[in-house]
Amino acid sequence: MKKTLSLLALCVVLALATGAAVAEPSDGGLDYLALVNKLNPLPEGWEDALETVHITNSLGRDVEIEQRAYDAYVALAADLEENDGIHLELDSARRSIAEQQDIMDRFIAKYGADYAAKTVATPGFSEHHTGLALDLYFRLDGKDVYHNEDMMQYPEIWEKIHAKLADYGFILRYLEGKEHITGYGYEPWHIRYVDSVEIAREIMSQPGMTLEVWLGAVNDPGLTVDYGASELYGEAELEEAAVQVKCKFASFDGCELRALRYAGDEANSAENVKWLNDLDEGKNYVQVVEFLSDFHTTAAYSGVLEPDSEYADYQWWLARAEGGGWQLVSWGY
Ligand code: DAL
Ligand code: ZN
Repeated sequence: MKKTLSLLALCVVLALATGAAVAEPSDGGLDYLALVNKLNPLPEGWEDALETVHITNSLGRDVEIEQRAYDAYVALAADLEENDGIHLELDSARRSIAEQQDIMDRFIAKYGADYAAKTVATPGFSEHHTGLALDLYFRLDGKDVYHNEDMMQYPEIWEKIHAKLADYGFILRYLEGKEHITGYGYEPWHIRYVDSVEIAREIMSQPGMTLEVWLGAVNDPGLTVDYGASELYGEAELEEAAVQVKCKFASFDGCELRALRYAGDEANSAENVKWLNDLDEGKNYVQVVEFLSDFHTTAAYSGVLEPDSEYADYQWWLARAEGGGWQLVSWGY
């Protein structure tokens, strides 16, 4: 076991230095696949290309939505109304930073900070800022069903809605059991427009596929990932762990990840399990995974390491409790 404290300060610096990603409009417009999550804020300049429409929902509230997402939503809603007898409504779509702050403040006051952090994005880091995330609700027997706890009572309705999302270029964003990847618990109502039926189908047809994993898999041609041969973990389990490493690495401003290797089953020793439990009190981790990475610091990198240099065998340690997902606990040399 190697302790990873020597670069702890570096990691903190790097994590705090996460630069806002710059939007990559395909044709002068929006990047409909932009990733906005706990690690990735709304891309700079997003609003310059954003065109929205406003509607009034059944509760009399104004909802603002990106215009292509709105057209797709109208088609989805018409299909569900006509063929499934489900009357969809829009609770919330685009939110300003101030609106997100207001929601956060209300959730903290009502449910406490821990619950709020699991449910509401930090202002600046909400997918709702893009105008491409839509929170749905529905009308049932002439009544609006829009409180989260009420909506959760109708899994069969959500199943029908989810089955049609991809046909209109939407994906379900916060899947059950993927909190460790998306950062949020299951939200059957929160859908995301990706502006491509083909991509939406590709994502939605793979059970448990999140936008984080899918983007990591398709957007990293320069990265080699080697899961080696493990007798403890299947490739899907290692992939889930690797995604967390990739997400964290994305906050290493000016660094490019080149290779990620599973370090081997021997990292799952009682000593390492204890070490990570000591670092992260109260988690009751029972298994450990270690990855090694090679990365490059670009000429533009400014931090503790040398710019324009190669670094090898940088360590990543993840652990999980019985029945839980992987948590990234420690990283560094
Ligand atoms: N509820 C989602 C995570 C948001 O606040 O953006
Ligand atoms: Zn939402």
